[in-house]
Amino acid sequence: MTDARTIAVANQKGGVAKTTTVASLAAALAELGQRVLVVDLDPQACLTFSLGLDPETVELSVHDVLLGRVAASMAIQSTVDGPDLLPATIELAGCEAMLLTRTGREYTLRLALEEVRPSYDVILLDCAPSTTTTTSYASIRRRPWDY
Ligand SMILES: Nc1ncnc2c1ncn2[C@@H]1O[C@H](COP(=O)(O)OP(=O)(O)OP(=O)(O)O)[C@@H](O)[C@H]1O
Ligand SMILES: [Mg+2]
Repeated sequence: MTDARTIAVANQKGGVAKTTTVASLAAALAELGQRVLVVDLDPQACLTFSLGLDPETVELSVHDVLLGRVAASMAIQSTVDGPDLLPATIELAGCEAMLLTRTGREYTLRLALEEVRPSYDVILLDCAPSTTTTTSYASIRRRPWDY
């Protein structure tokens, strides 16, 4: 059984090409035949938009997955560019406050993606320009050699 390599693209500074890097890398890896999942962890939802989805019309997003409302596989969509996408909406901005009191919240993203890991070779995480809780979730390694 394969196990996806997970790469988080994060930087506190805005506008330094995090999203561009994720979108380009994902498209290139998909073209090489890799099974790629990209996860939009930014409430601005630029990655979601750039992959052809209107965040306003997305019904299930990463916000619902982090809150445990739906499984990741329910919210993941395929895109015309090749990679699959776990989209974001502006709702993600309120997610951190809702998770703040939850024990073990730093493992929320890792655990939520566990179910879909065998379906992918690479998972790319596009973080928001901050060191917020969601970005720190993206930094939690599954195993020391994962990143
Ligand atoms: N190699 C490049 N050369 C010139 N401009 C670039 C390059 N890569 C990205 N840009 C431009 O830089 C801007 C910011 O890129 P991008 O949205 O990827 O940054 P970001 O770090 O994800 O921003 P944010 O922090 O707001 O999420 C965009 O307008 C993009 O087109
Ligand atoms: Mg971005």
